[in-house]
Amino acid sequence: MATNFHSNSQLPSDISTPITRTAKPNSEFYSIFSEQEVLGIINTLEVRREIPLKYSYKGRGAKIWDNFYLKYIIPKWYRTSSVEIDLLSTNFEYINGNIQKCEKVNIIDVGSGNSYPVKKFIYKLNKLQKINKYIALDISEELLNVSRKNFSKWFPLIEFKSQTIDIENSCIPQDLLNDHNNNTANIILHLGVTIGNHHHRNKVLKNFRDSMKKNDFLVFTNETGSNSQWDGSIRGGCKYHAEEIYAWIKNKIGIRSEDCELVRKYDSQTDSIVANMKLHHNYTINFCSQGINKNLEIFKGEEITIWRHHKYKIPELLQEIEQAGLKLVHYSTDKYLSRIMVICEVASN
Ligand SMILES: C[S@@+](CC[C@H](N)C(=O)[O-])C[C@H]1O[C@@H](n2cnc3c(N)ncnc32)[C@H](O)[C@@H]1O
Repeated sequence: MATNFHSNSQLPSDISTPITRTAKPNSEFYSIFSEQEVLGIINTLEVRREIPLKYSYKGRGAKIWDNFYLKYIIPKWYRTSSVEIDLLSTNFEYINGNIQKCEKVNIIDVGSGNSYPVKKFIYKLNKLQKINKYIALDISEELLNVSRKNFSKWFPLIEFKSQTIDIENSCIPQDLLNDHNNNTANIILHLGVTIGNHHHRNKVLKNFRDSMKKNDFLVFTNETGSNSQWDGSIRGGCKYHAEEIYAWIKNKIGIRSEDCELVRKYDSQTDSIVANMKLHHNYTINFCSQGINKNLEIFKGEEITIWRHHKYKIPELLQEIEQAGLKLVHYSTDKYLSRIMVICEVASN
């Protein structure tokens, strides 16, 4: 089998070392991921030495995210606000003011997580009797279960729908959106700086655009600034979320703790901050389930990306929005100018 060296990998530092260990993903791994997803993981490992972060929200990864959110993000007595919730509040007037042409709105929360960030926003719109239904979409069925439980407790009278979706690969299912009442607009949310985690940001934006019609809004958040000028401080998701995912992936794939380390750095190939699993041993990962039997060689010194985030510079953000056929209609930033909430609609023609 040909070996690919991704640019963030180093050449094996000791080619003469003959010892290669074998890692066998455990049964939990095959129960979480569909055959197509396993093939997707093998492919990204082979081509770009990455296990895309999106897969790490599935199975126990859902609990990891929910715990991380409840511990580090949700407002508490000593941390009275959350950037995402604040940005939704700041933009409430704009959004509400611009949906007045429509009788009601559907809120479509793509990458809904545990749905906490939208609670206050929905509460305010609901008080104005504007909500038709809330639709949670996520790659992780387990997080959709968390979302359903939370949402039904908070808003027992609002219709809740959910479906698994990989927004990198598909549009929002139209049958979820179609209402008999044409006077309902869709507000599509993509919060939690998730756009900066995707490998194919352009595809995601295009899929959003192709899911939208006139009067619909896409609202998303991301970090702004220069990735390459990262000061090296490991905080937030890059610290706590990446740490938990690292432990989980090692265990699922079967790589010994003493054979690897977690490295955070700037990756110039993707212009992103990444968290990588760096191997201290040659490994053969043996993927073996139903129709799949594949050995993948990863050499000592190579790194597998398990977490990543890309910050936008404003001109680049505008360019990506435009290239997807979207139009920026409004935006605002937090007080540190480090987080942005962007509101787009479909560009005419
Ligand atoms: C960073 S979390 C944000 C969750 C929530 N929106 C928030 O702000 O707290 C990313 C969420 O998006 C989901 N997700 C990641 N990639 C996805 C994809 N390609 N398609 C659908 N959902 C995805 C994850 O499962 C997770 O729930």
